[in-house]
Amino acid sequence: MKALITGISGFVGSHLAEYLLENTDWEVAGTVFGPYANIADLCGTLELYPAELSRLDVVTFVLEQARPDVLFHLAAQPLVSASRRDPWGTLETNIRMQLNVLEGVAQVKPDCRVLVVGSSEEYGLIRPKDLPIDEETPLRPLSAYAISKVAQDLLGLQYHLTHGLHVVRVRPFNHTGPRQRIGFVAPDFASQIAAAEVGLGPAMIQVGNLEARRDFSDVRDIVRAYVLLLTAGEPGQVYNAGSGESHAVQDVLDTLLGMSEAEIKVRQDPARMRPSEVPEVVCNPTRIRNQTGWETEITFEESLRDVLAYWRAEMKKKL
Ligand code: GDD
Repeated sequence: MKALITGISGFVGSHLAEYLLENTDWEVAGTVFGPYANIADLCGTLELYPAELSRLDVVTFVLEQARPDVLFHLAAQPLVSASRRDPWGTLETNIRMQLNVLEGVAQVKPDCRVLVVGSSEEYGLIRPKDLPIDEETPLRPLSAYAISKVAQDLLGLQYHLTHGLHVVRVRPFNHTGPRQRIGFVAPDFASQIAAAEVGLGPAMIQVGNLEARRDFSDVRDIVRAYVLLLTAGEPGQVYNAGSGESHAVQDVLDTLLGMSEAEIKVRQDPARMRPSEVPEVVCNPTRIRNQTGWETEITFEESLRDVLAYWRAEMKKKL
């Protein structure tokens, strides 16, 4: 078996590569756009293609060279906030890359299984009566990022229906872990705490909305879900991936601060508050559980401890 991971040097891609190398005998290839830091330790064992996937000829070239049996399409613009600043940039990037991957597979390697990665953001406006969110919940997207993920999701369905591709679609809920970049809530908080601890930042942490409740999982559980879905998921089907529990963003903050000895004050930064914020998001993971047996294994606290450890190590490098 050979896997191709688009965006292998990204946060999720690097964890998926690690998981496959440690737990399977698959060959692992990947496309890289941007820095290699996340996969620096794995480079010798990976087949890497520097590639800009917004060009179909580049995608078909990579597929012709790599000839994968399974393809995890992770390359994307992942920030909801960035999509508010540049809506078309996110729509263009995410939709074009997804279309090229599906078209490329249809042209070059039509027996390759493809994982299309949507998002819980596709559900958008969630009311208390919609909780926990199953896959039949109506999609009421609230950002260009969410629309781009709806489009990716439905392109996956379309290529399954019209081209007979083995496409499995997943809607992951929030996930964090080591190597997640600043711009997401756990690294935003952990990096500020780690900086304050060593005097590289003020003893003051800037935060946004602490009341929002989200379903946080660890990235290492999420990549395990992705592998299970491409091996045991039903072609054409869509699956939620989340823990089934919500935590307030305040819990993220309190848990991280509780792991530090430093005296750190908290300040709400109006620039970090978001318009159209949904109060609570909780996943109903029944479908993925029934189909694959997947359960989350890493606790909220373990995940946050590892995020903080990662940022402490990053700050040490700067000293
Ligand atoms: N980023 C950030 N920074 N978020 C903050 C902060 C802060 O300082 N303070 C509070 N928050 C709140 C946000 O308002 C939001 O309610 C929650 O923390 C989580 O924000 P993010 O970590 O930025 O994630 P997201 O929900 O916007 O999107 C993530 O999850 C989606 C799946 O639900 C991303 O990983 C997306 O790519 C993914 O699709």
